[in-house]
Amino acid sequence: MTHSSRAIRIQAYGGPEQLELVHTEVGEPGPGEIRIRHHAVGLNYIDVYQRTGLYGNPLPLALGMEGAGVVEAVGEGVSHLQVGDRAAYASQPPGSYCERRVMPAKCVCKLPDAISFDEGAAMMLKGLTTQYLLRQTQPQGGLKAGDFILFHAAAGGVGLIACQWAKAMGLQMIGTAGSDDKCALARELGASHTINYRSEDFVARVKAITGGQGVKAVYDSVGADTFMKSLDCLQPFGLLATYGNASGKVPPLDIGVLAAKGSLYVTRPTLFTHIATRERTQAMADDLFAMVTSGQVKIRIDQRYKLEDVAQAHRDLEARKTTGCTILTV
Ligand SMILES: NC(=O)c1ccc[n+]([C@@H]2O[C@H](COP(=O)([O-])OP(=O)(O)OC[C@H]3O[C@@H](n4cnc5c(N)ncnc54)[C@H](OP(=O)(O)O)[C@@H]3O)[C@@H](O)[C@H]2O)c1
Repeated sequence: MTHSSRAIRIQAYGGPEQLELVHTEVGEPGPGEIRIRHHAVGLNYIDVYQRTGLYGNPLPLALGMEGAGVVEAVGEGVSHLQVGDRAAYASQPPGSYCERRVMPAKCVCKLPDAISFDEGAAMMLKGLTTQYLLRQTQPQGGLKAGDFILFHAAAGGVGLIACQWAKAMGLQMIGTAGSDDKCALARELGASHTINYRSEDFVARVKAITGGQGVKAVYDSVGADTFMKSLDCLQPFGLLATYGNASGKVPPLDIGVLAAKGSLYVTRPTLFTHIATRERTQAMADDLFAMVTSGQVKIRIDQRYKLEDVAQAHRDLEARKTTGCTILTV
């Protein structure tokens, strides 16, 4: 038996105009899989990289890495989910921009009753990313209360979760953002300092804020525009986690630069290494759920679009018009 679903696909890489609504038939889950009926789907910047071809996914491509809904069917060998469970996920392969899908169960987690479907769809990819960045991607000796970190794009989806999470850890987070309004929002949510990196020299400001010392860690998802300057914001032995490319790919690095700038560390992490097993995924999700249900992290959904309006959602995200999280309702 099959079930119909509306879904978004691309046949070729390109702009938002490539996103097309198609009608698909969805079957039964195989071993290790579930079928989920989405209530909401999360929008992420990685969807833009996949749409443009930056990450080279095979075509035709169903987009979307994040969603929340109700489990409709469970395949053989899946023991952590049952039919009727509320659930949410960040997961490969892409394909969450749809009403229902069959997908691997490994990264799908039961959603606590206190968290809505909309919040679940908005927060799994961005929240698990913040979890692994702030808790697991630390400089030598770790981060402790009072330490300075620099976090770029602080008013975005990942960024506003990070503002709150860093504050809960007692960190002094210097957040950058592309307008004064976005900077004010990041401060409201927990950044101790902000810098409008479109109008200010963020290296000079970071030096001034930290009394000339620099920060222990930089979390940089902007990529090409910020990478080299981010290195200049670090203390000796500091860590640069370059985890995104919103402004374009980071160019090849002459590794000797890391010696010259003070025995620095650079890592290029991805969420999908961190959630490679069911156990790791659940442990990270439990931490995220605790942060949200305790009220320490609030999931701000600042934009909502219908599934069929996904092209506009992509245009707004790329034009830097969004703040916080964006969801598609299905
Ligand atoms: N490696 C991983 O595991 C992982 C996982 C999740 C997300 N990410 C990365 O984290 C970043 C944030 O993801 P998100 O989904 O929450 O997106 P987002 O932060 O809501 O949106 C991206 C933001 O990047 C900033 N930006 C700077 N230069 C830009 C440019 N040239 N074009 C467009 N935007 C620019 C904009 O904020 P301003 O206007 O304030 O500059 C924009 O709002 C993305 O780069 C994403 O790829 C990586």
